[in-house]
Amino acid sequence: MVPGTPPTTAGPPGTPPTRPLPAIWFERPVLPAFAARVAETCTVLGPPTEDDPYAELEAAVGVIAGARRYDTAFMDHAPRLRVIARTGIGYDAVDIDAATRRGIAVTNTPDGPTVSTAEHAIALMLIVVKNVVAARDALRAGSSGYFSRHEAIELRGKTLGLVGFGRIARQVAAIAAGLGMRVRYVDPFVDAASAPPGVERARDLPDLLGTADVVSVHVPLTDESRGMFGPAQFASMKPGAAFINTARGALVDQDALLLSLDSGHLFGAGLDVTAPEPLPPDHPLLHRDDVIVTPHVASATNEGKARMFGSALDQALAVLDGRRPEHLVNPEVWERSVAPAAAGGRE
Ligand SMILES: NC(=O)c1ccc[n+]([C@@H]2O[C@H](COP(=O)([O-])OP(=O)(O)OC[C@H]3O[C@@H](n4cnc5c(N)ncnc54)[C@H](O)[C@@H]3O)[C@@H](O)[C@H]2O)c1
Repeated sequence: MVPGTPPTTAGPPGTPPTRPLPAIWFERPVLPAFAARVAETCTVLGPPTEDDPYAELEAAVGVIAGARRYDTAFMDHAPRLRVIARTGIGYDAVDIDAATRRGIAVTNTPDGPTVSTAEHAIALMLIVVKNVVAARDALRAGSSGYFSRHEAIELRGKTLGLVGFGRIARQVAAIAAGLGMRVRYVDPFVDAASAPPGVERARDLPDLLGTADVVSVHVPLTDESRGMFGPAQFASMKPGAAFINTARGALVDQDALLLSLDSGHLFGAGLDVTAPEPLPPDHPLLHRDDVIVTPHVASATNEGKARMFGSALDQALAVLDGRRPEHLVNPEVWERSVAPAAAGGRE
């Protein structure tokens, strides 16, 4: 039997035949809390192995997608694929044009990672401005004179500059307001009237960077936003400011960030995302006490994982059942081919 071939359709004697379960490929292991539901609703394929990144993919009609690239090479290995369901909001790693051309629906889970990622951005901000890494390392090294040598920043009354003011940035703003910070943002697609009271719209990115004590990045990675933080942007940040990125590594020129840190212009940086991911163990960003890097785990709380996995599974099953999913990234596929396929018109 081909791996992933749906189980037979025969039920107990006398019962009507049931439909075969759809074969869904899981990039990451199925979350234990979802094991029973997954077993009832689909045939599990994957996850991939180091030796075979496309293991068991050939029979898949759906994919629950984590962080890997979903490009034409991947799609070539999955000729029956009808839906790629991302467990997260960002879909920059999916070749949407290629998926659309092939009639593959792409879905995401925009609200799944929001709270956990916002909390993580705040955690990174606090670790950086409180100089936690340097203090921890000094203690480990058995140094003395901790109090005199420790340099840190109090956040009350300081300005937080949010680049992008969507779901995650709004949560960050709410928590930062509780810390007594002044919050400003730049987002060309959000008008000032829709911002919560007390949150101020900056004129543009230079205006924001020139006034913020902490800059936190929350924009999607697109052709336009790629590399939006380079030497000029770091130079225009306030001396002694902190830089936080929980969005995407490729938004940032990391060499420019390192130069800015080396020059003493920036106080420090907190990064959940880098380019590449993971960074090689000898990368300079991993060996500084003014930088904290986490391996793209901002959304990976128990609660965040459950929301993202559950929503991705719901949407994959919806597409495979002929129902329009809640968060369809390429809706043109729906009108053109997914719905007829679900009705039996397309293989
Ligand atoms: N580290 C993680 O685990 C993790 C988790 C979730 C999301 N993310 C990343 O965070 C990003 C933001 O997530 P979100 O849920 O807030 O998304 P969102 O779509 O709700 O908000 C993004 C905002 O960015 C704005 N924007 C787009 N281009 C901009 C630009 N050039 N300048 C300023 N603003 C711009 C948009 O108008 C939008 O309001 C995602 O795209 C994803 O890449 C990372």
